[in-house]
Amino acid sequence: MSAIEARGLTKVYRTYKKESGLRGAIKGLAKRKYDETRAADNVSFTIEEGELVGFLGPNGAGKTTVLKMLSGLLNPTGGEARVLGFVPWERRNEMKRQFSLLMGQKNALWWDLPAQESLELNRAIYGIDRGRFKQVVGGLAELLEVQDKMNVMVRELSLGERMKMELISALIHEPRVLFLDEPTIGLDVVSQQRVREFLRIYNREHRIVTMLTSHYMQDIEELCDRVIVIDHGKIFFDGPLNSIIDRFSGSKILSLTFEQPATRDFSAYGEVIEQTPLSVQLKVPRGKVTETCRQVLADCKVTDINVQELPVEEVIRQFFGERSAAVSNAAAEAAVSATA
Ligand SMILES: Nc1ncnc2c1ncn2[C@@H]1O[C@H](COP(=O)(O)OP(=O)(O)OP(=O)(O)O)[C@@H](O)[C@H]1O
Ligand SMILES: [Mg+2]
Repeated sequence: MSAIEARGLTKVYRTYKKESGLRGAIKGLAKRKYDETRAADNVSFTIEEGELVGFLGPNGAGKTTVLKMLSGLLNPTGGEARVLGFVPWERRNEMKRQFSLLMGQKNALWWDLPAQESLELNRAIYGIDRGRFKQVVGGLAELLEVQDKMNVMVRELSLGERMKMELISALIHEPRVLFLDEPTIGLDVVSQQRVREFLRIYNREHRIVTMLTSHYMQDIEELCDRVIVIDHGKIFFDGPLNSIIDRFSGSKILSLTFEQPATRDFSAYGEVIEQTPLSVQLKVPRGKVTETCRQVLADCKVTDINVQELPVEEVIRQFFGERSAAVSNAAAEAAVSATA
């Protein structure tokens, strides 16, 4: 049995449209109009014990929807899923004790309590033995370096500290499956690094099955060997991350800041992504980064220079671009051969 199995998982959201005005309201009574969003469309995959899988896709692709179904927060419109053998939306206590969902955009901890007290409440809910609880929380707090913050009111913690507490909270019952929905969102670079480091160590030591979504490419690159990519509710890639990066992230982003407004045309150096009077962002092929930096520094008065990986969105976008080009080429070829 695989740790996570999804077969044909589908979720259709219906949002009712109300036409404006009284007339619209009356018409609406007779014939309700609604929009349908296929947030998850026939999603299938399996994840084995110990795997840490990146779940990628652009905004609105369906990632959170799938994670919510796998966590039993949402009933699917169709399809099947098993998490550790349980049907998630049956919400069995045995399953609740063995998985966790952490959403970076939401707080699970009580705002007006110190983290320690929130954790105590969860201890009671899960019926965790006191000794074990102390040991687990102590270990996690040490690893995340928040021992001295355990008695600070959650609302007074920094975003990074709060996220670390959320992680502790998600792990106190030592789950076997962990769904992480943007656990590093909004964190500064140092905190992001810490959280990543923690997840790497934790996953290695506990072999906990993890599905991770993030819009930060670095999270995915550092943590996940395998990625599942979703768009418009459909899975269209499931495999090693390397094969995406190698093929689709052949470039880096070069950000330049100037002392004085620069009016020159930068397209000779690379693809101009964004330009303001005092800055420009260029997309430069990986192999040409050093040379381009040297050139720009020689040609312009640069006060700051910064080289970054393409954001995950961009890599995925290129990925999509090639894919839709391939699809339309195939369609065009089909059309040509049909008329021939
Ligand atoms: N409760 C809801 N009612 C109606 N539509 C919804 C609801 N929740 C999500 N959607 C829609 O379903 C689609 C998928 O949303 P979802 O939140 O799963 O995307 P996501 O991949 O998590 O995006 P993001 O990266 O922005 O978090 C979107 O088009 C969204 O607008
Ligand atoms: Mg989401």
